[in-house]
Amino acid sequence: MSKGKILSGMRPTGALHLGNYFGALENWVKLQNEYECFFFIADWHALTTGYEDTSNIKENIDELVISYLSAGLDPEKCNMFLQSSIKEHAELHLLFSMSTPLSWLFRCPTYKDQLAQMKDKNITTYGFLGYPNLQAADILVYKANFVPVGEDQVPHLELTREVARRFNYLYGETFPEPQPILTKAKVLPGTDGRKMSKSYGNTISLADSPDTVRKKVSSMITDPARIRKDDQGHPDVCGVYAFHKVFNEAELPEIETQCKGGKIGCVQCKRNLADKMVNYLEPIYEKRQEILKKPSIIREVIEKGNEAAKKVASGTMEDVRKAMKIDW
Ligand code: TRP
Ligand code: SF4
Repeated sequence: MSKGKILSGMRPTGALHLGNYFGALENWVKLQNEYECFFFIADWHALTTGYEDTSNIKENIDELVISYLSAGLDPEKCNMFLQSSIKEHAELHLLFSMSTPLSWLFRCPTYKDQLAQMKDKNITTYGFLGYPNLQAADILVYKANFVPVGEDQVPHLELTREVARRFNYLYGETFPEPQPILTKAKVLPGTDGRKMSKSYGNTISLADSPDTVRKKVSSMITDPARIRKDDQGHPDVCGVYAFHKVFNEAELPEIETQCKGGKIGCVQCKRNLADKMVNYLEPIYEKRQEILKKPSIIREVIEKGNEAAKKVASGTMEDVRKAMKIDW
């Protein structure tokens, strides 16, 4: 029945927004029916850039679990667990750190990009440089075959395969080389037209109520050239249209024609979109309310997942120690 083992994770940065959801989670929900899945919360990874202020981590972990569950991950179908509960990740990371050349880490494009972007934080640290090496340990400790991720994570997957290859060469065949499952990019702009990002305050979140969703949609930036209803519009530069592409595929050709011909007003077009979005997001929001009424479920789900993860990870570490002849 299962097509192989899948592993993926996200850093706990709070409730997911629609960019995160369509970038990964939506796909995970489908994959849990076809593969043996391990989905985790990368709380140690959150420390690589956020080690100075750790005050929100616990809350953010809870929020991420709620997002996982309300979006449709099912503890009967997949394992959800917490990275820091499975110490084997740390042990394997340490062992990989012995043999991973520094040059592999320095040349990783995400390393250079983030250093440049986060000038306000001191992340010229050992831990941050080793981020992809910890990620390799996350993946290989489950001997995962596939890793569903966005395009931005491809360099980390490449490094993971190099680490696996080097280990297998030095100590004997131990790890499979995991392949990415790329999520088709559904690009959703933020409500202000820029990239959707928490730091811009322009997100729509899985935690937003239907009312909030409607308000945010009505404030979205549209084609700036359109002032009156009969002005000819350019859907391709309109954020609302980008959302219709995701939430309202059926009416897309019609909306395009009407917008270009100046036949619908933006207010009406937005109201239509808000209806479609609420239709899609309301069940997720309702599920969230259910969980908030009985928050003990969060811990129950993670403890169940931790147990399953621990079993696989400790088995792999026995193989690893044996292969390295450090099983004294
Ligand atoms: N680096 C990933 C991200 O930022 C998170 C992550 C950590 C991850 N370990 C992983 C993803 C292992 C997939 C597999 O999104
Ligand atoms: Fe955008 Fe719709 Fe207005 Fe056209 S009619 S500019 S698609 S909101």
